Amino acid sequence: MSSQTTPSNLMNNYGTRSLEIVRGEGMYLYDAADRQYLDFTAGIAVCALGHAHPAVAEALTTQAQTLLHCSNLYEIPQQKQLATKLAALSGLDQVLFCNSGTEANEAALKLARKYAATRNEAQRTQIVSLPGAFHGRTLGSLSITPKPAYQNGYAPLVPDCLSGQTLEETLDLISERTAACFVEVVQGEGGVHPLPEPLLQEIAQRCRETGALLVVDEVQTGVGRTGTFYAYEPMNLRPDIVTMAKGLANGVPIGAVLAREEVAAAFTPGSHGTTFGGNPLATSVANVVVDTVSDPAFLQHVSEMGRYLQGKLEGLGTEVSGRGLMYGITVGDAKQFVQNAQSQGVLLTAVGEKRVRFVPPLIVEAAHIDELEKKLKAL
Ligand SMILES: Cc1ncc(COP(=O)(O)O)c(C=O)c1O
Repeated sequence: MSSQTTPSNLMNNYGTRSLEIVRGEGMYLYDAADRQYLDFTAGIAVCALGHAHPAVAEALTTQAQTLLHCSNLYEIPQQKQLATKLAALSGLDQVLFCNSGTEANEAALKLARKYAATRNEAQRTQIVSLPGAFHGRTLGSLSITPKPAYQNGYAPLVPDCLSGQTLEETLDLISERTAACFVEVVQGEGGVHPLPEPLLQEIAQRCRETGALLVVDEVQTGVGRTGTFYAYEPMNLRPDIVTMAKGLANGVPIGAVLAREEVAAAFTPGSHGTTFGGNPLATSVANVVVDTVSDPAFLQHVSEMGRYLQGKLEGLGTEVSGRGLMYGITVGDAKQFVQNAQSQGVLLTAVGEKRVRFVPPLIVEAAHIDELEKKLKAL
């Protein structure tokens, strides 16, 4: 069963964790007593190819025996290959690698301001984000994550970060003073709520009219999670900047910022950087993940399994919403639901007091979804 963790020297920012995971295989995780858990968290929408995937393990071990890290002082061939693939898949031109989602958004925020500065638009400093958004925990990304519980105690935040109370109100905030507006196509941490396509279109239109950049945060939705490689593809959006992380290297830390050539040109040598970003280890694994997930048959599988999951969830909670293999349901008490599921051998995440999120590895099969349904029905 679950083990209560013993006191440690770890800071308490994650609270007490009720389970110790020691290994994983495919769709399953195991505790120290070898109890099996069906994983519908995928390390919070990270392990797209599941656990201990042979091709990922092979890329990791080969690269570890060759070269782990050499810094961005030098050219890294795996980085170039990965950038070529991500550019082709997105229709954007240039890519910058970092180590996490928050870092990708931090870099996007800086790039947007730098782009305005290089165009002598000194007044264009504002960054607009949407209510319910989550963009990360570093100070810039936190400043565009308008959730008091996350922002409290960290004042002063980065200036000129604006967000309305409603989506419509936020639209009116986009002006000639806006450097960029950040959107998620499906708000994951906000409760797994897809944004309506007309609203996304309106935001894009308003950005075009005012000269603001449109940044699509694909940190959670990207790398096939919603059934297309990027969630914005079926929305007919043409972002200026896209940010990615989570699923990109199946658990090896990596983030990426993609931009149109003209926008990317605002970053000149010395403008931005990171020691680890895009190192040979992370990018060699990411190449394997991107090759696997971008296969149309793989994406088709995600869509099919997503529809199957959606159908099953209708019977387990209310307000079922999401896309692909990213769904949320409303229950009476999300934390309790997740705890009960864990005792049945199913791992889920709570996003908010009443929302439970289902983000399994993308390799999930119908039999796993049947197993999920059976176990959750027994709660
Ligand atoms: C949409 C989105 N953006 C950014 C982040 C932050 O990513 P990270 O935790 O890798 O910093 C997350 C994390 O949940 C996210 O869902």
